[in-house]
Amino acid sequence: MNEHSQIFRTSLLEENDGPGQNPTENPTMGELIATRFSRRGFLKGSLAVSAIAATVSPMALMMADEARAEGKSAFNFEEVEAGIDTGHHVAAGYDADVLLRWGDALFADSPEFDPANQTPEAQARQFGYNNDYVGFIPLEGSSEHGLLVVNHEYTNEHLMFPGIVKVVEGKIEVAPADKKRVDIEMAAHGGTVVEIRKEGGKWQVVRDGKLNRRITANTEMQLSGPVAGHDRVKTNADPSGRKVFGTINNCAGGVTPWGTYVMAEENIHGYFMGTLPEGSKEAANYKRLGVPEGVYEWGKFHDRFDLSKDPNEANRFGWVVEVDVNDPNSIPKKRTALGRFKHEGAASIVAKDGRVVFYLGDDERFDYVYKFVTSGKFNPDDRSANLDLLDDGTLYVARFAADGTIEWLPLVHGNGPLTGENGFESQADVLIETRRAGDLLGATKMDRPEDIEPNAVNGKVYVMLTNNTKRKDDQVDAANPRAKNAFGHIIEIAEADGDFSATSGKWEVLLKCGDPAVAEVGASFSTETSKNGWFGMPDNCSVDADGRLWVSTDGNSPKDTGRTDGLWAVDTEGEARATSKLFFRVPIGAEMCGPLMLPDMATMMVAVQHPGDGGEDWEGFGRPSYYEDLSTRWPDFKDDMPVRPSVIAITKQGGGKIGV
Ligand code: FEO
Ligand code: CA
Ligand code: CA
Repeated sequence: MNEHSQIFRTSLLEENDGPGQNPTENPTMGELIATRFSRRGFLKGSLAVSAIAATVSPMALMMADEARAEGKSAFNFEEVEAGIDTGHHVAAGYDADVLLRWGDALFADSPEFDPANQTPEAQARQFGYNNDYVGFIPLEGSSEHGLLVVNHEYTNEHLMFPGIVKVVEGKIEVAPADKKRVDIEMAAHGGTVVEIRKEGGKWQVVRDGKLNRRITANTEMQLSGPVAGHDRVKTNADPSGRKVFGTINNCAGGVTPWGTYVMAEENIHGYFMGTLPEGSKEAANYKRLGVPEGVYEWGKFHDRFDLSKDPNEANRFGWVVEVDVNDPNSIPKKRTALGRFKHEGAASIVAKDGRVVFYLGDDERFDYVYKFVTSGKFNPDDRSANLDLLDDGTLYVARFAADGTIEWLPLVHGNGPLTGENGFESQADVLIETRRAGDLLGATKMDRPEDIEPNAVNGKVYVMLTNNTKRKDDQVDAANPRAKNAFGHIIEIAEADGDFSATSGKWEVLLKCGDPAVAEVGASFSTETSKNGWFGMPDNCSVDADGRLWVSTDGNSPKDTGRTDGLWAVDTEGEARATSKLFFRVPIGAEMCGPLMLPDMATMMVAVQHPGDGGEDWEGFGRPSYYEDLSTRWPDFKDDMPVRPSVIAITKQGGGKIGV
């Protein structure tokens, strides 16, 4: 979700600002930053580019050309030109084909998409809105046949529904929702599991594949792990505290080594309204997460989203949900052992000893980086033996020290301040209020942690920190080195002994984002990065089978960077480190999600989220964009079709590995 989405809803769009703001005085290490920079930060020439890039000499450019000619980059493709228009663009020699659009049929009985006559029943049988995470689970080990799993993060009513927008003094106003609209929105949330197959080099959706499934904000789910059955998750509808309906705001996610689909619940605060009963125990807990914010109007028609009627319902959201895709009727499980916060994603990797490690970001300004290590070991020979691995393990929160080390602090009941004295009576309390537990342990306040991906090839871990314009000069620290960090940065972690389950390691800043030609920005792309190659606001990422990093962005815009969001290939090794190249870009108003390189590296899946959401600040449109007056009608470009968030399959013309 970016700052331009849902223009009419000023609070949720503010880059996860405010509502859940971290109140602690955890160390910002401002006084140590100078030491770190003098000792480590400028060791590599590529990291020092910001100060000289504006006046780079012809000789330096020639040298950069020679370096490129020597093929030092791990990527080989002709870069896309950065810019802004109504379409999508991919590197020359590649095809970027629309695979699945909002409203596309998934089942034999799915109604065809009819945007003027939407119903909740039709939406629940069609591809949902605002595709975000994209994962692939091979069938029979194939890279050309499998299940695509896709999160549907949220809905943009002004782009989805006809006849509900008024423009008043240049601003969009949306009519209040009726129950039918709310129910369509709920059915457009959640996720999709759909069989896909590559035939003649092109991907096809297998309509009515026997494992196809829609998950929505109403799907029955189970709470499992330490919080299941706890008093704080019991509601009017569920006195057992074990049965939940639906999942919401599923941002990024993951596919586990045992082939299940995990969905991260992120900005849950916007779905709740009403006031907690006087003296409620949950007041501080909800405040820390910004609950309620009443962005959506679901609580008007469904009591469980109204805190005055069901004060515990919000404790049943903000988890990581696991879906067993092998059975389309399986009950998804909210895995409470992984903590409750604004979960960005849940990428995983098997550690040396067979335990499984999940990297988790909490996407809010000044919130934390986490990882979860299972107690049990992955059994590659028995899928069923792995199905409850996520109910038992240790959740850690990260402390990044100024000397370049990282410590993973266990969020375990009884550890240090995590005791009854501070309101933590059990591990369930620690997990329900994960953020507050992290506050007390002294975790490092980060610049909005988004995707975190481990790299199986080089043993490193990449952390996307998208931006934080609220960080003040006296709050900079080694791991968040820029005040008013408008463009974000990427941190690289090397766990001790290359062991992903380690409780310590080292870290360094891989890349500070933004335009390297503006010295004040302090960006650190290599000098080999072209004017198209730099970007701001890293968000999602993918590490391919060769260990190469691909980064997608959320928030590049006409006003901020003079370019749309897109997918950039970022070198991490050798002399090319911190070199970036633009591979794909999205239409005006869209955010780039996914991305996912398939195991054979012959397909890159990307998700185009909220296309057409914005256009006021683009000279090609210059006014608010909404259903009847859209800044683009991507991808159909038909007068009677609204914009449709879509998943795109990118392949090389004639076949072969991408970017090689
Ligand atoms: Fe849904 Fe943090 O992006
Ligand atoms: Ca995003
Ligand atoms: Ca994201």
